[in-house]
Amino acid sequence: MKVVVTGGAGYIGSHTVVELLERGHDVHVVDSFCNSERSVIARIAGLVGKPVPFSELDILDSSALTDCLIEVRPDAVIHFAALKSVGESISMPLEYYRANVEGTISLLSAMDAAGCSRLVFSSTATIYGEPEECPVPETASLRPPTPYGRTKLASEWVIRDCVDAPDSKLIAVILRYFNPVGAHPSGLIGELPRGLPNNLAPYITQTAAGLRSHVRVFGADYPTPDGTGVRDFIHVVDLAVAHVAALQVLEGGDGKSLTLNLGTGRPYSVLEMIQAFSDVVGHPVPYEVVERRTGDIVESWADPSRAEALLDWRATRSLREICEDAWRWQRNLSCRALED
Ligand SMILES: NC(=O)c1ccc[n+]([C@@H]2O[C@H](COP(=O)([O-])OP(=O)(O)OC[C@H]3O[C@@H](n4cnc5c(N)ncnc54)[C@H](O)[C@@H]3O)[C@@H](O)[C@H]2O)c1
Repeated sequence: MKVVVTGGAGYIGSHTVVELLERGHDVHVVDSFCNSERSVIARIAGLVGKPVPFSELDILDSSALTDCLIEVRPDAVIHFAALKSVGESISMPLEYYRANVEGTISLLSAMDAAGCSRLVFSSTATIYGEPEECPVPETASLRPPTPYGRTKLASEWVIRDCVDAPDSKLIAVILRYFNPVGAHPSGLIGELPRGLPNNLAPYITQTAAGLRSHVRVFGADYPTPDGTGVRDFIHVVDLAVAHVAALQVLEGGDGKSLTLNLGTGRPYSVLEMIQAFSDVVGHPVPYEVVERRTGDIVESWADPSRAEALLDWRATRSLREICEDAWRWQRNLSCRALED
């Protein structure tokens, strides 16, 4: 299939581009590089041994995006491009609604103009808020606690309304990710957090590498087995492989829209994650328990059974592999920083 990947230079996008190219798909990346480095494209090309065509553009530039899709004529689009910082979305809600909701509208219009009717969309488990039950099924109540989550839910609505419109040819797979972590086992691509990381895993690896003094654990008095928050950490390569499977489902093409959880279904606490990293790096990663952080949820992990059945897919990589791959990436990053 010929696939346009918006945000293909980003964390999850870059891993998905690798999996697509390795399985013989024809890929064209669209990225503004507002949260990624241009060098990622060359690193992907080196990894798969093929050139990676790309267009540097902002998906909010509707006419440039439309021209690009008309020229590339993709069979499908995987849409990652978005702003993703929960904290930033609280202080800059308009930027987030514009980038994420308007960006999705701009993409759907360009796809329509280019006659492309297959879409895979990146959504998030954040839209469940504090779940009533775990594991969380796709039918759980949707209560996104932040502007970021609400922009993702609003984007889901826009996509479903376009799918359901009379005479619409659009079909879509909406994927709700739990907690993507890890990096490519080659150590060549991974997460590139700018400034203070929002997520636990890069915080831990930066601390293990001596770039931060300790990990802050926000609350150890939650009603969980060890008192810390509990999450569903999924290896980014498992996530990437699920996108390839979603394309195959779209190629089959009878469903109109599908919404699927992507997680492992296995809960791990924050302290268990720190311990797993400590085992891999060979020394204890220092941490300090601090006050609970407003808006953090207590526990959330996926019921991935629908995705497993419909995509014929399963997250197979262990917590140890997650830590080993993330740590390899962090060491390579530290070496690059020293060389710069
Ligand atoms: N990483 C997570 O924890 C997580 C969890 C759930 C859902 N998601 C969703 O998955 C998607 C990918 O996340 P990620 O972690 O890879 O993020 P990322 O920031 O690493 O990648 C996003 C990419 O999109 C590009 N981009 C952003 N706005 C753009 C625009 N207007 N035009 C063109 N390019 C643009 C950025 O330059 C970047 O390369 C996002 O939609 C995010 O909301 C991420």
